[in-house]
Amino acid sequence: MLPMDSDNTLKTPILVLGATSLIGGHLMARLAQEGFDPVALSRRPPAGDACWVDGDLTDPDIGQHLPPAATVFALSPIWLLPAVLPGLKARGMVRLIAFSSTSRFTKVSSPEGGERAVAQALIDAERAVETWCAENGVAWTILRPTLIYDEGRDGNISRIARLVTRFHVMPLSGRGEGLRQPVHAADLAVGALAAAKAPAARDQAYNLVGGETLSYRVMVDRVFEGLGKTPRSLPMPPWLFALLMRLAKPFYPGATAAMGARMGQDLTFDSSAAARDFGWTPRAFHPRF
Ligand SMILES: NC(=O)c1ccc[n+]([C@@H]2O[C@H](COP(=O)([O-])OP(=O)(O)OC[C@H]3O[C@@H](n4cnc5c(N)ncnc54)[C@H](OP(=O)(O)O)[C@@H]3O)[C@@H](O)[C@H]2O)c1
Repeated sequence: MLPMDSDNTLKTPILVLGATSLIGGHLMARLAQEGFDPVALSRRPPAGDACWVDGDLTDPDIGQHLPPAATVFALSPIWLLPAVLPGLKARGMVRLIAFSSTSRFTKVSSPEGGERAVAQALIDAERAVETWCAENGVAWTILRPTLIYDEGRDGNISRIARLVTRFHVMPLSGRGEGLRQPVHAADLAVGALAAAKAPAARDQAYNLVGGETLSYRVMVDRVFEGLGKTPRSLPMPPWLFALLMRLAKPFYPGATAAMGARMGQDLTFDSSAAARDFGWTPRAFHPRF
């Protein structure tokens, strides 16, 4: 394990909450590459031979199971974090890097009540984390990715890839002109590590977007290309797409009419503050399956 450190490296020991997440595997691997010896906490064991604490963040007694931790990466849902902050502080936490989501902005006025509730939970949790850390002397950084992908593992881009593989065509609501900035989970791991080391990133929140801004339709085209297929998307009137989603719901529980409405909306953010403060340089969107 590396010793305690100067300002631009990490204080150890390091704890990763949600190491089994899309970002978690990449982060654990990077930390190990850099000579750290992180401890993972989740309900399922992470990949590889990392030191793992079998813990549920909703367990009222979780504080008793937390390992010592100076730097904490929280990749678990941020609304689970406020309740465990006192326990983490008691185990030595001085630096926290927590993931939230740009959904706090994009879903706040969704027609779906469940999506609005998620946005509100993100907003409330971010505020609780910031306030608690400021009052308790813990340097915090909140990272808000846009749509995360990791070929074959995520529920966004990989879900499109599965639909394309099965049906050879991808239906679009309207012309799919809403802009997207998909961001790779591996880039987010690099970004989280860079933010943790950067003094300028203390007590800040950042929106983290992918290296390219492209329309939903072009994003779908790139998925076809990543599968070695010729792009074949099928634009349809929004009412017909909404009907299709209703029919598909028993087979694809995540299918909602709100998904169609969003295909025409720009969901774009600016990451220039992250580029300035910790060198955020994500890849362009060319998934390979
Ligand atoms: N996916 C996206 O497109 C997206 C977009 C923007 C932001 N985000 C945010 O980015 C972060 C990572 O997202 P992701 O999609 O990679 O996450 P994910 O795959 O859903 O994983 C969530 C992680 O949290 C852990 N977790 C959940 N409930 C837990 C509990 N009660 N106790 C302990 N651990 C628990 C899970 O571990 P176990 O299940 O093994 O316990 C898992 O490692 C999250 O904060 C998410 O909100 C995601």
